Amino acid sequence: MRTLETDRLTLRAWRREDAAALFDIYSRWEVARYLGSTPRVLETMEQAERAAQRWGAMDDQLYGVWAVVTHEEDRPIGSVLLKELPLSGDTEPLQPSGDVEVGWHLHPDTWGKGYATEAAARVLRHGFDGGLEEIYAITYPENGPSQAVCRRLGMEHLGPTDRYYNVTSELFRIRAADLAS
Ligand SMILES: CC(C)(COP(=O)(O)OP(=O)(O)OC[C@H]1O[C@@H](n2cnc3c(N)ncnc32)[C@H](O)[C@@H]1OP(=O)(O)O)[C@@H](O)C(=O)NCCC(=O)NCCS
Repeated sequence: MRTLETDRLTLRAWRREDAAALFDIYSRWEVARYLGSTPRVLETMEQAERAAQRWGAMDDQLYGVWAVVTHEEDRPIGSVLLKELPLSGDTEPLQPSGDVEVGWHLHPDTWGKGYATEAAARVLRHGFDGGLEEIYAITYPENGPSQAVCRRLGMEHLGPTDRYYNVTSELFRIRAADLAS
């Protein structure tokens, strides 16, 4: 996957040796509580090692889960992701929807600095440069901080949906021209 740069951040592949940093982020309920259809924290280092390995092994020119690191320290402070959204349904695994989502998860010590918005803006640019016409974000209705990131990015609030992940979410969308403006 491509390494992406911003003024303050590098977005790079997750590595096996990032497992401790990954565990420190995803073992926290305040990070995990709004992720996926059945939110749960990581409980063991082994789970963190598997996640670092799985995300790091994603080798796609467009999609991925990037580790977010600051230019000061090469220890991940979170993730930013670009992936296909799964349709709600009763299949296992869920079927692809053809829609693409952007997402962000940061260590609480690094909230309030604009890092999520900065990283996501770079990943949106990467997605649009790669040919996507529109990108969605879905948030739990009560996840105000994540909805604020969507708004800072210039994403349009489309309202509630149960189209993805078998959950009811607030849906946001941005088109290439909206990011440029
Ligand atoms: C969602 C989440 C990433 C938001 O983090 P965040 O730090 O609030 O968002 P940003 O990185 O955009 O930072 C914006 C804040 O930084 C402040 N800020 C400080 N310096 C800044 C700078 N140089 N540039 C921009 N903003 C800056 C802004 O004023 C804003 O503060 P405010 O919330 O008090 O208004 C974070 O809450 C999180 O990781 N939650 C857990 C995971 C999660 O729920 N993910 C979303 C699933 S849908």
